[in-house]
Amino acid sequence: MGIRYQNVAACATMVLVMVMAEIADICANSSTLLHSPCLERERQALVKFKASLTDSSNMLSSWHGDDCCRWKGIGCDNVTGHVVMLDLTTPYVKCRRPMWEGEYWLRSDDEDNCDLLGYQYLEARNVNSSLLELEYLTHLDLSGNDFYRSPIPMFIGSMQRLRYLSLSEAGFGGRIPSNLGNLSNLHFLRLSFNGFSPDSNINWISQLSLLEHLDMNQAYDGVQVNITNLTISAPKLQFLSLADIGFSVSNLDALQNTTSLVHLDLRWNHLFSIPSWFGNFKKLGYLDLSGCGLYGPIPNTFQNATFIEFLYLSRNNFDSLPSWFHKFEKLKHLFLSFNNIKGTIPVALQNMTSIESLDLSSNSFTSVPSWFIELKKLVYLDLSFNKLTSMECSISSILKNMCHLKTLNIGRNKLQKESIGNTDLSTCIGHDLENLDLSENEFNDHLPSWLGQLENLGNLDLQDNFFYGPIPSSFGKLLKLEILYLFNNKLEGAFLISWDNL
Ligand SMILES: *[C@@H]1O[C@H](CO)[C@@H](O)[C@H](O)[C@H]1NC(C)=O
Ligand SMILES: *[C@@H]1O[C@H](CO)[C@@H](O)[C@H](O)[C@H]1NC(C)=O
Ligand SMILES: *[C@@H]1O[C@H](CO)[C@@H](O)[C@H](O)[C@H]1NC(C)=O
Ligand SMILES: *[C@@H]1O[C@H](CO)[C@@H](O)[C@H](O)[C@H]1NC(C)=O
Ligand SMILES: *[C@@H]1O[C@H](CO)[C@@H](O)[C@H](O)[C@H]1NC(C)=O
Ligand SMILES: *[C@@H]1O[C@H](CO)[C@@H](O)[C@H](O)[C@H]1NC(C)=O
Ligand SMILES: *[C@@H]1O[C@H](CO)[C@@H](O)[C@H](O)[C@H]1NC(C)=O
Ligand SMILES: *[C@@H]1O[C@H](CO)[C@@H](O)[C@H](O)[C@H]1NC(C)=O
Ligand SMILES: *[C@@H]1O[C@H](CO)[C@@H](O)[C@H](O)[C@H]1NC(C)=O
Repeated sequence: MGIRYQNVAACATMVLVMVMAEIADICANSSTLLHSPCLERERQALVKFKASLTDSSNMLSSWHGDDCCRWKGIGCDNVTGHVVMLDLTTPYVKCRRPMWEGEYWLRSDDEDNCDLLGYQYLEARNVNSSLLELEYLTHLDLSGNDFYRSPIPMFIGSMQRLRYLSLSEAGFGGRIPSNLGNLSNLHFLRLSFNGFSPDSNINWISQLSLLEHLDMNQAYDGVQVNITNLTISAPKLQFLSLADIGFSVSNLDALQNTTSLVHLDLRWNHLFSIPSWFGNFKKLGYLDLSGCGLYGPIPNTFQNATFIEFLYLSRNNFDSLPSWFHKFEKLKHLFLSFNNIKGTIPVALQNMTSIESLDLSSNSFTSVPSWFIELKKLVYLDLSFNKLTSMECSISSILKNMCHLKTLNIGRNKLQKESIGNTDLSTCIGHDLENLDLSENEFNDHLPSWLGQLENLGNLDLQDNFFYGPIPSSFGKLLKLEILYLFNNKLEGAFLISWDNL
């Protein structure tokens, strides 16, 4: 069974490439040759569904004419002509979807532009039952629209052919109907970011044995949820997010058999400890246990997760990084902010030369070792809110070695003059650095002249230090500077310089 969107563009290309009259004819008649036109009964159902929606941004402007298979968001079976797909995801949700749910800074400029699409969505008081007439629907996506806190209608649970159901960020409320457990063909289920009532029982999940993707991230209204007796029996489950749903350690057993997981997000639940069988998760590439009340050393049971690329452990109370950590050769993103790790930056990170983002902020680190400059792939480095008093590698040597760094935050430490360094930065062809924060330290020196080499710098925060003397003329080269904080220093003549670009 195939799903077909519009084939007009594809045909136009064929015509251009092949320039053959017969092909042109086929294209002109593509609706008869390549698929059956939509069935009138199903077209009527879609018309009725459209009538139940408020579409102030004209998302459904293509929904006219006889062949509903050509309407935007509709996919038909190319043999029977039945509507098999209804994809009304908003452009905004679609735009951001491919990215991992990481920290905000991982967003690219393109993804920031997604926000501009936020005004395009559909609204309705409920999901109209005309959908039931689309008996052959396998793919239903209503994410991002607004259903005014109405419950998911019971009839969805009878749409037995569904393989893909996404109702996330769609303003649903009430209890989650437990007959969703009847959708035994589901491979993909997203109910994230809604306002379901906390007493919704989700034990029906155990009936969905074909699930590969389950996203319940912040599905509830408030976090006072008491999940009991949850089991998950989906041997092919790869993606699981139960973030911020009041999951507790007693529920963790539900995951004991889901060893095929690649993406596991349990952040903002009350776990307190990690069971030993966590070592069964050998395929994990993404693990988020931020804010789970974990403490002590990072558990040895993570050792088997050697494919891990994204590891989010912020806002726990971990106090050390074990030496076996270097086995995580693929690790690219490590977030450990708001923990309780003391002393020098752990040697376990020494050979992690693949690491691209490292957040060690809000711990109690006191020094940065000399090997640190070998982490040359770093793009994002946050060491702020620690107790750093010394750096065996100076800030300029970090910048000299890490040519791809975009953000360097060393603010809110106790560093002095010696840590600034005066290495020439010209070993990098160019510097990507956009954000530099050295604020609230004890830097008692002239402003470093190397600042002028950071030609992509957009934000520079030097406030609350003891910098003195004139502002170097090299600052004039910082053509992209948008935000500059210099307050509470002893700099001269700042007001005399004209900042054409500020
Ligand atoms: C229908 O689509 C499927 C999958 O794309 C394809 O394999 C099949 O050949 C198509 N059938 C027709 C009649 O076009
Ligand atoms: C398209 O199909 C119709 C009816 O099947 C036929 O009358 C018409 O000539 C066809 N057009 C072309 C360009 O082949
Ligand atoms: C479905 O939508 C149609 C068209 O707006 C409306 O007449 C009908 O009452 C709706 N049905 C329900 C159950 O809301
Ligand atoms: C659907 O779910 C309901 C409630 O969970 C249940 O009572 C009913 O028997 C199920 N129907 C089928 C066909 O499985
Ligand atoms: C959750 O439910 C269990 C069993 O009913 C009960 O013992 C426990 O106190 C409840 N916890 C909360 C936070 O309501
Ligand atoms: C959980 O299981 C226990 C024991 O089987 C049972 O008494 C209890 O009612 C169940 N709770 C829910 C919410 O299903
Ligand atoms: C895990 O699988 C085993 C073997 O199939 C089964 O006995 C056990 O009950 C399962 N555990 C959970 C929590 O589903
Ligand atoms: C890693 O996996 C092996 C093989 O399944 C297992 O014996 C071992 O206990 C696991 N290690 C940890 C630390 O969980
Ligand atoms: C890192 O690699 C160097 C050179 O291979 C080695 O001497 C050192 O022990 C390694 N450090 C760690 C923590 O594995």
